[in-house]
Amino acid sequence: MTAKRYTVTAALPYANGPLHIGHLAGAYLSSDVYVRYLRLMGKDVVFICGSDEHGAAITIKAKKEGTTPKAIVDKYHTLIKETFEKLNVSFDIYHRTTEQIHHETSQDFFRALHENGSFTEKVTEQYYDAKHDQFLADRYIKGTCPKCNHDAAYGDQCENCGSTLSPTELINPVSTLSGDHPELKTTKHWYLSLNNDTEWLSEWIDKGTLDGEQHHNPKEWKNHVLGQCRSWVTDLQPRAMTRDLDWGIDVPQEIEGSEGKKLYVWLDAPIGYISATKQWAKDNGKDWELYWKDKDSKLVHFIGKDNIVFHCIIFPSILKAVGGYLLPDNVPANQFLNLQGDKLSTSRNWAVWAHEYLEDTKETITNNIDVLRYVLIRNMPEQKDSEFTWENFKELNDSELTGKLANFINRVIVLVNKYYDGLVPEFDDSLPVFSGKEEGKASSFANELKAIEQLINTCGKHIEAYDFRGGLKTVIELASLGNQFLQFNEPWKTVKTDPETVKTVMNLSLQIVEALSVTLQPFLPGTSQRIRTLLNLGALENGAWQGLTDDLAKESLRVTANHTIGKPLHLFQKVADEVIQEQIAKLGQKDEGEATLEPIKEEATFEDFMKMDIRTGIITSAEKVRKAKKLLQLKVNIGLEERTVVSGIAEHFAPEDIIGQQVLLLANLAPRKIRGVLSEGMVLMAENSKGELGFVQPTDGFGNGFIVR
Ligand code: 2FM
Ligand code: ZN
Repeated sequence: MTAKRYTVTAALPYANGPLHIGHLAGAYLSSDVYVRYLRLMGKDVVFICGSDEHGAAITIKAKKEGTTPKAIVDKYHTLIKETFEKLNVSFDIYHRTTEQIHHETSQDFFRALHENGSFTEKVTEQYYDAKHDQFLADRYIKGTCPKCNHDAAYGDQCENCGSTLSPTELINPVSTLSGDHPELKTTKHWYLSLNNDTEWLSEWIDKGTLDGEQHHNPKEWKNHVLGQCRSWVTDLQPRAMTRDLDWGIDVPQEIEGSEGKKLYVWLDAPIGYISATKQWAKDNGKDWELYWKDKDSKLVHFIGKDNIVFHCIIFPSILKAVGGYLLPDNVPANQFLNLQGDKLSTSRNWAVWAHEYLEDTKETITNNIDVLRYVLIRNMPEQKDSEFTWENFKELNDSELTGKLANFINRVIVLVNKYYDGLVPEFDDSLPVFSGKEEGKASSFANELKAIEQLINTCGKHIEAYDFRGGLKTVIELASLGNQFLQFNEPWKTVKTDPETVKTVMNLSLQIVEALSVTLQPFLPGTSQRIRTLLNLGALENGAWQGLTDDLAKESLRVTANHTIGKPLHLFQKVADEVIQEQIAKLGQKDEGEATLEPIKEEATFEDFMKMDIRTGIITSAEKVRKAKKLLQLKVNIGLEERTVVSGIAEHFAPEDIIGQQVLLLANLAPRKIRGVLSEGMVLMAENSKGELGFVQPTDGFGNGFIVR
């Protein structure tokens, strides 16, 4: 922790869908813990994020929802930003890559790279979808990964094995627009000559040195990050930095051949960190350049493992080529979070959506925000893929948050209110107390303060080493120390016979509670604040962690004698089984808004349509058809006559519920015998993707026998 200044970035999420727990456990909770800790250590830090609003991820979603890219990014930017706010992720700015300042900054980068010879212009053959008149880069093309055989790799990357690809490497490529096998057509693009960077990149990755100067310590980098970097750096190919698209940042007009060309989204997105810093600096009277160019600043990128190549190879190479910029001091990427034994999948809706969780559990889970933060940090995929299960969620909430943390704090607050009417008692350092570490072991007030200090320092070391799971575990150890300290000293047994020792025990317990409010703050900021309220102490300020360890070293106490604390309240409570079961049942279910809709059928002529005689009608009787689970025999009055209709709706509707239901009947369908009953028409029904049925009917009371056209 020697740097003067920290620039911490969290991957800009694509504004093409809501956030799920995989995002949170990947780049966002990790960075938030780190930044909150830095602030509590009194560091100068800027925490940058924003929406990634360009690229095929956005345009494809717009097409799917039948709307414009602009409407998509507006919708999801708002949702994502709100979700981060609700989860207390403490960005200093949450920006957007569609902002003017970002377009300008990105174009400046492009110009600089163009002018200093970092690009080669190449005309190549690229896949093209003739039906849609579009070149197929990135997510517009899918196929089998040549490296791992995954059958849904994108044109730029395989999300299964993390390889970066080019579309022509895909086996069996298909256009995601038409589903057709694409043709090849020539086009011109600007390629970043990554192949010239092999030497310095290898040195920088392996040794942390650049031009002989030490920049960072690669031993502090995660193994899996180094592993990925090393495997890429051996085989660097020129990479196209432009695309033929109509959504994105224009290649600067003055550059010849720029018409119709846009910047590659992975060129503009990381530059988004810089544009966001510029905006933040403007809004707060700061100098953005210090955070990106000053040697006393440290740049740290928090990302998921699928983004490693872009942050450890391509972006550094751009920053170095433009010149004057810092390279990252660390890129503590996380691996992937699995869910209930399976990979997270947005298309199968195998995901826990953060905004839905918050809404679903606001009444049923006490302190639902921090319970989620806790479970995700405890299971963070820091070194390898990890797993979220609802059973484990309940277990951690019930046994650690409720059983250990809340239980300890609650006992202290209750006892201090009971014994001393909420007034903090004096302590006497000369009185022996039992240790909170080992049952029956003699200790003293000063010794126990040391034990607290040690745990706090251990926790800080974990955070500084990007080991947030370890950090949070240490906080729970501090709560356990508190619990045992109470348990081994049993103040409730000696309050009458040895009141002075009990005062000392309770005073020390209050110091532990206060230490918990500080050490929990990076992980569970809401809970930290609630504990401060319980203690009747003010909010934590920057530098408070440093202040706490300094005070402990001097044996200067933070909760002073005769201060009045607050009244007890539940910080956490056990979660009911039904709440967990409900969440499990939701997995894989499709919401109608998100349903994949069947494609439109083959064209029909007006004459085809006019052949059908559809009438308004009403069901006058309904009964089950014997030995046929699915069938109901209906009588439908269509004004002129009453028809008998056999309909496959018995599993969806009870006969008694649909008598009187208005319907539309296809009345000139050739009659046919079903289970011995002659069916004279078909009742029109709508069916959704869950297979649920709904009646199609005219306005209430419309009348029977009228024609539909
Ligand atoms: O993978 C993603 O979700 C990208 N939108 C991350 C971009 S990170 C940065 F470079 F902006
Ligand atoms: Zn692969």
